[in-house]
Amino acid sequence: MNPALPAQPPRRAAILREIGLGPLWLLRSRDAARAEAALKAKAALPASSAADVEISPSAARPQPAAPQAILPGPQAPSRLQPSAVPAGATAGKAAPQRDAGREQRIASLDWEGLEEEIRSCRACVLCERRKQAVPGVGDRNAQWMLVGEGPGAEEDLRGEPFVGQAGKLLDNMLAAVGLKRGEGVYIANAVKCRPPHNRTPESGEIDSCLPFLARQIELVQPKLLVALGRPAAQALLNMEVRIGAARGHVFRYRDTPVLITYHPAYLLRNPQDKSKAWEDLCFARRIMGGLPQP
Ligand code: URA
Repeated sequence: MNPALPAQPPRRAAILREIGLGPLWLLRSRDAARAEAALKAKAALPASSAADVEISPSAARPQPAAPQAILPGPQAPSRLQPSAVPAGATAGKAAPQRDAGREQRIASLDWEGLEEEIRSCRACVLCERRKQAVPGVGDRNAQWMLVGEGPGAEEDLRGEPFVGQAGKLLDNMLAAVGLKRGEGVYIANAVKCRPPHNRTPESGEIDSCLPFLARQIELVQPKLLVALGRPAAQALLNMEVRIGAARGHVFRYRDTPVLITYHPAYLLRNPQDKSKAWEDLCFARRIMGGLPQP
């Protein structure tokens, strides 16, 4: 064992082994200071210019040059801000018809009304084959909010996000940075109904579900949003995202910092990237350290 590394408690070591990581890495305090300074500097800007802006390259590790194309400009619209969405702003496919009345109604719902609305939603084809919709789970006053892609078979059956294999890995990843589902953490998905055969949700399906996610974020008011995988990142940021280039950068959804990392299901198929997800969560941890606590 490297004598420079602190001894790890057995449970922590077991969790790290479980998510495919070796000995715990030491966090470098210099990095934490840089991450904090970047956030503080950005917090000083007026809200309008802070929306969706990439605010700092990773303080966690050396960065590959981030292609400008993936980074939003200062005025990049959030898909979740109705007033900021220009017609046809949806990347890729044509933007679906917006139902402003529906969006406004959802935006005024309380938790119970929102979950009821989600469970009875028939706004897109995903409702046709679901067993049940999966609104979200966790601490409604959480500082951390994780956004996944959409329910899989087990989630569809049980009505809770991330309860299958990917969920087990997610729980272990959270535990590795001292977090626990339901304790200061809220978990939701970009779409609330299972896409058939676990296919990636289409942009129109994500758009139909966005008012729900927007309301969840508004109700939770997290200090940090973590997008798990590309569909979640694209839902939050309304732009094309490549995870490899976007991870390690801080984006914004309205005033809330957004980090992007790999989806746990991807990590199950590509375990060699688990260490990168671990880096991302350590980076998130450091950012949270720099944010005001309640
Ligand atoms: N994958 C997701 O993105 N969400 C879930 O809830 C389960 C698997």
